Formats: sequence, structure tokens, C-alpha cells
Amino acid sequence: MTAAAIEISGLRHAYGDLEVLRGVDLDVARGSIVALLGSNGAGKTTLIRILSTLQRADAGRASVAGHDVAAAPAGARAAISLTGQLSAVDEVLTGRENMLLVARLRRVPDPGAAVDRLLARLDLAGAAERRAGTYSGGMRRRLDLAMSLLGDPPVILLDEPTTGLDPEARREVWAAVRELAAGGTTVLLTTQTLDEAEHLADRIAILHEGRIIVDGTLAQLRALLPAPTVELVEKQPTLEEVFLAVIGAKPAKEAS
Ligand SMILES: Nc1ncnc2c1ncn2[C@@H]1O[C@H](COP(=O)(O)OP(=O)(O)OP(=O)(O)O)[C@@H](O)[C@H]1O
Ligand SMILES: [Mg+2]
Repeated sequence: MTAAAIEISGLRHAYGDLEVLRGVDLDVARGSIVALLGSNGAGKTTLIRILSTLQRADAGRASVAGHDVAAAPAGARAAISLTGQLSAVDEVLTGRENMLLVARLRRVPDPGAAVDRLLARLDLAGAAERRAGTYSGGMRRRLDLAMSLLGDPPVILLDEPTTGLDPEARREVWAAVRELAAGGTTVLLTTQTLDEAEHLADRIAILHEGRIIVDGTLAQLRALLPAPTVELVEKQPTLEEVFLAVIGAKPAKEAS
């Protein structure tokens, strides 16, 4: 058993001449939430697809729960759940029926009990008998999460879990993700919204020009910028300012 739930070293991937990943190194500790931040096209989805064995890396290694994704893809697949942009929810079925369908497909033992436990865990027990078509965006995303958690995978990969949700629904999903991590599940999520990383993640990794250029806690990332100036109030740099500084971009507006 290794200490980290996800271990990535020297991972490279190119699409033809386009080198997207140029030696990615990243470890994700068990039970932690790591946010992978990067601009459009940075390679976040590519990295998630390699970790979920949907795509092969050109070089380097990656393992999930101790299973090498290239050498032992079946073991890696059994250890992860992937929730992407496309929802697997059937609108005509109720929340519980959606869950039972997936539980039976995955041959989860005692599907009824497993479904009830997850519906409760994601705060959907009260809506379980309603058609999923009547759910709000946040409820639907939580149902998606619940479905992907059937079989209790130790690692979950979330590619932009809250894109398109309103602020309240985002908070519902954040609460559900925090709850999972508190229960020992390891979470790697990608996001383009910096406040999501700021609110949710134990550690933040920034993918830029094919490598992880920064990996640390929010406090460690903030410490990369000069100490906050003390005027009338102390202004901590926002994660957005740190992000733009480390990728070498000009801030949209100069310090006001
Ligand atoms: N199947 C493919 N064939 C060719 N190029 C691809 C393919 N998939 C992705 N790319 C390119 O690789 C780069 C990285 O794509 P990827 O989807 O991994 O980025 P991302 O960080 O997830 O971006 P976004 O924030 O927009 O989701 C992009 O330039 C993209 O156009
Ligand atoms: Mg993407």
C-alpha cells in the first residue's frame, strides 16, 4: 500500500504535434480534496481521462489506489468513479430508480440498501421518489454523484463538477464533496473557477504549459506573492491574483 491515493510522475501526452502534458507530477493523499486548476486547453480533461483509463499516456506513470493505470487498468477502473460533464441521469425515472438501475448494472451487493445509504448521504432521500426530470440542477448533479459512488470507489474524479450551476447549487455540490472526503474518499476535481478551488480544496495544483507549476495549500499559494500590504486594511491576494501571477499573465485590472 502506498501513502497517496493517486500518484502521477513524469506523465506525458501529445495529440499529434500538440504536446499537452509534458511531465506531470502530482500526488493526492488519501481522503483529501485536490483541485486541479488550469486555463482552457491546459490538459485537465486529458489528465483525468488518463487516470480513468479512457486514454493512454505516451510516457510516465500514473496509479490509482496502487493500481497502475497502464499495467493494471481493470484494478484502477474498479477503484475510481468518474463524473464528467455529461449526466447519466434518466429524467423519466425517479431518483431511486436511476440509482437501482446503476446498482444492478454494477452488480452492487444488496442494491436497495446501498441506494438508500447513498441517497441519504447526498441529501436526496426526501426526493428519491420524484422523477429526476423535476430535480434542480444541484439535485441532479448530486444524483449523478450518488450514482457514480455506487460500489464505494475510494477515489473520485470530477471534471468540472459545478460548471453551469447557480451559486446555491454549487454550494450543495461542494457540501456533498466535502462530506465524501470526510468519509475517507479521495477527490481530484478540475475547475476553472478559482473560488471553487479556494472553498473546497485541501490542496490546489495549477497545470500550466504541460506541467504542474504550483502545488500546495491556499496559504502556501498565497505566500508565493509578496506579503500583503498593510494600509487601513490588510488585503490578502485572492487565488485569482496568485494564479495569474504564477502563470505569468497580466491581471485583468491593476491593483486598485
Ligand atoms: N482528441 C483530441 N485530439 C486532438 N486534440 C485534442 C483532443 N482532446 C484535446 N485536445 C487538445 O488538447 C488540449 C488539452 O485539452 P483538454 O481537454 O485536456 O484541456 P482542458 O484543460 O480540459 O480544457 P477545458 O478547460 O477547456 O476543459 C487542447 O488544446 C485540446 O484542443
Ligand atoms: Mg476539460
